Amino acid sequence: MKTIKDVNFKGKKVLVRVDFNVPFDSQKRITDDTRIREALPTINKLTKDGAKVILMAHLGRPKKGGFEPDLTLKPVADYLSKKINQEVVFTQSLLGDEVTKLCNNLKDGQVMLLENIRFYPEETKGDENFAKQLSLLGDAYVNDAFGACHREHASTATIAKYFPNDKYFGLLMENEIVNLTKLMTNPSKPFTAVIGGSKISTKIDVLKNLLNIVDNLIIGGGMTYTFRKAQGQKIGDSICEDDKMDVALELLHLAKQKNVNVYLPEDRVIADDFSNNANIQRTKIDEIPNGWQGMDIGEKTIKLYSDVVLKSKTILWNGPMGVFEMENFAKGTNAIAKAVADATEHNGAFSAIGGGDSVAAIDQSGYADKISYISTGGGAMLEYLEGKTLPGIKAIMD
Ligand code: 3PG
Repeated sequence: MKTIKDVNFKGKKVLVRVDFNVPFDSQKRITDDTRIREALPTINKLTKDGAKVILMAHLGRPKKGGFEPDLTLKPVADYLSKKINQEVVFTQSLLGDEVTKLCNNLKDGQVMLLENIRFYPEETKGDENFAKQLSLLGDAYVNDAFGACHREHASTATIAKYFPNDKYFGLLMENEIVNLTKLMTNPSKPFTAVIGGSKISTKIDVLKNLLNIVDNLIIGGGMTYTFRKAQGQKIGDSICEDDKMDVALELLHLAKQKNVNVYLPEDRVIADDFSNNANIQRTKIDEIPNGWQGMDIGEKTIKLYSDVVLKSKTILWNGPMGVFEMENFAKGTNAIAKAVADATEHNGAFSAIGGGDSVAAIDQSGYADKISYISTGGGAMLEYLEGKTLPGIKAIMD
């Protein structure tokens, strides 16, 4: 793997694609800085070498083509300045004489952040000419944007071809690739995947691919109601994708063929409204009356799922078990977080967590530092788990 580790970039202008697509509150304060923090090792290594670091990033999905005040990266530049103890030069455009001049005037060890690259519609089209113009700003290219490497965009993929001998993975990317490879190639057994989330439609390909490699598949979250309805059980007013019931049954059939143990909830916490203040009941079996909806897994299920996790040597967790953002329905998700942390800490399991919701859940539960590896990728991690080749990784390998 060609990483920045073994190279000294002194005096070089290094173009680094990072994923600074971070959430903000209404006051424009960053509410989760994980992606910025995780990019620091690469930025610090390059500045320590004495490189001139030019960061490229996107924020959100601008629609208009051109500047959108809500999606400027300026607050990220300010935040990063504090994290690296030096002023980050911020440019309002990406191309043109002014930017070229700023790049050429950077001193060794200085850092610059270009404005939201998606203000240029050419970015998401993977436009060759745009990528070529960007490439002229630097002497070397580093991709450290794991969270965006499933996108075949100008700055994540196309640009790499203009640096045939000077393209590298950043340290965050290297860490993600090493850990994901460890997870999906020869994992220690038993391997348990805990997959949650509200919709089966977004996870079908992941679930199918995982059936080739895991011993146990634990399913939680809203998608379980589709499985249960397909099996003929009563799900009351719970969320359900009626058009995916066939898929659910097909997955269960496939799991049987491949000798994978599938676990679905056996009891539930149900509510008469989708609200933290709703009336709550606990079912003894997985049947939900009309007028009620499933919000979390029940005690019996928590025990069952935790026991399986605790007996595992490799654990992958993606997606919450219930509506964990509401306090009254967070118990199942928190219990899984604890089980994954305990299996890692006390039983030597290798644990990997990915996806915005599960990462938020593990942070909220306070067990994050016990986990072997927490991915910065949401969609990118899922596509990797689906077995797809990610364009941002391929572009550096080619
Ligand atoms: C993410 O937040 O998952 C990445 O930054 C990619 O963003 P996108 O889904 O808008 O391409």
